[in-house]
Amino acid sequence: MAQKDIIILGIESSCDDTSAAVLKNNAVLSNLTAGQKVHELYGGVVPELASRAHQQNIIPVVDGALKLAGVDINEIDAIAFTRGPGLLGSLLVGTSFAKSFALSLNKPLIEVNHMMGHILAHFIDDEGKSKPEFPFLCLTVSGGHTQIVLVEDYLKMKVLGSTIDDAAGEAFDKAAKLLGFPYPGGVKIDQHAKLGNPNAFDFAKPVIKGYDFSFSGLKTSILYFLQKKSAQHPNFIDENLNDLCASIQRTIVEILMKKITLCAKDLNIKQIAIAGGVSANSGLRHALTETGREKEWEVFIPKFEYCTDNAAMIAITGKYLFDKNQFVDQSVSAKARLPLSIK
Ligand code: KG4
Ligand code: ZN
Repeated sequence: MAQKDIIILGIESSCDDTSAAVLKNNAVLSNLTAGQKVHELYGGVVPELASRAHQQNIIPVVDGALKLAGVDINEIDAIAFTRGPGLLGSLLVGTSFAKSFALSLNKPLIEVNHMMGHILAHFIDDEGKSKPEFPFLCLTVSGGHTQIVLVEDYLKMKVLGSTIDDAAGEAFDKAAKLLGFPYPGGVKIDQHAKLGNPNAFDFAKPVIKGYDFSFSGLKTSILYFLQKKSAQHPNFIDENLNDLCASIQRTIVEILMKKITLCAKDLNIKQIAIAGGVSANSGLRHALTETGREKEWEVFIPKFEYCTDNAAMIAITGKYLFDKNQFVDQSVSAKARLPLSIK
C-alpha cells in the first residue's frame, strides 16, 4: 500500500527573515520569505525592530505560503517552527504563532533547531540533484554560526568544530561595513570580488588548533590595513574596491576550506556539504567544487534559495521529526541558545 503523503507547514523567524513554507513529503509546494530592509540603516540587525517586523509579516507570509501551495489549512499534518538558536524576540514571534495556530487547528507541533534545518535542506527534492549519504560532513556557515558538523543520520549530528569568536557571515558583513557597504554586505563583497584580483592584498590568517575557526583577527587586520592605506591615499578604498573584496573573500574561503579539508582527511569522509547563508558565496562554492575534484569528494551545494534563512528547511526537518513522532506540547518556549544536540 502506498504511504500517506505528509504535509508540513514550516515557520522560520530566528533572525530578520519571516518565512513560511509548505512541503508535501520532501517536495516544496511553497516557500515564501519577507526580508527586513529596516536594518540596512543601522549596519546590523536591531533585535527590537526585527521582532516588530516579524509580528507584522507573520500572518501575511503564512497565509501567502498556504495559498501559493494550494493547500487548505485542514490538510496540514503538522506545524514545524524554529525554536532556536537565534534572536529571542524574533524566535518568540514564530514560536507563539506556531503554538497558537497548532492549538486552534488541533494539529501536532514540532520544534526545529535552525542549524539542523540548514543542513537538512540538502534533502529537499530537487530534480537532477543527488542527496548526501550518511555519514557526511557539513560546513555550516551563516551570520551567527560557523560549524563543521558530522551528520550521522537525519537527526543525529555532532559538532566537531566551531568558531571561537565571529561567524564567517559576520566576518563578511564586518569587512563589508569597513568598505562602506550597507548591512548585510556579504553578498556585495561577493559581487565585487568577481571583478577583482584575489591575490592583490594579503590579510592575517588565524592559527587555531583542530577544527575550530576564528575570524576576529581578520577583521582587525583589515581595519588596520584600510586605516593605514586611507591615511596615505584618501581614495584607496574606492580605487581598489574590487581587489579588496576579492582578497578578503579569498582569505575567508581559505580559512574555511583549510579546516573542512583537514577534517575530511582525518575522518576519511568524502561526502562534503555546505549550508547556511555564506554557502551562497561564489568563492566558497567554487573552492569546494575544485577541492572536491582534486580530493575525489562528492560535494553538495544548496540551491541559492535554501542557503539563506528559509522555512522550507524548517519544514523538511519537521518532516523527519514527524516520521519519528517527535512532537512538543504547548509548554515549549523559544530558546536563543539551542545546541545541535545528538538525539
Ligand atoms: O543563514 P543566514 O541567512 O542567516 C543566519 O542564520 O545567520 O546567513 C546570513 C549571512 C549574512 O552574514 C550574509 O552576509 C551572508 O550570510 N551571505 C553571504 C552571501 N549571501 C549571504 N556572504 C558571502 N557571500 C554571499 N553571497
Ligand atoms: Zn540561518
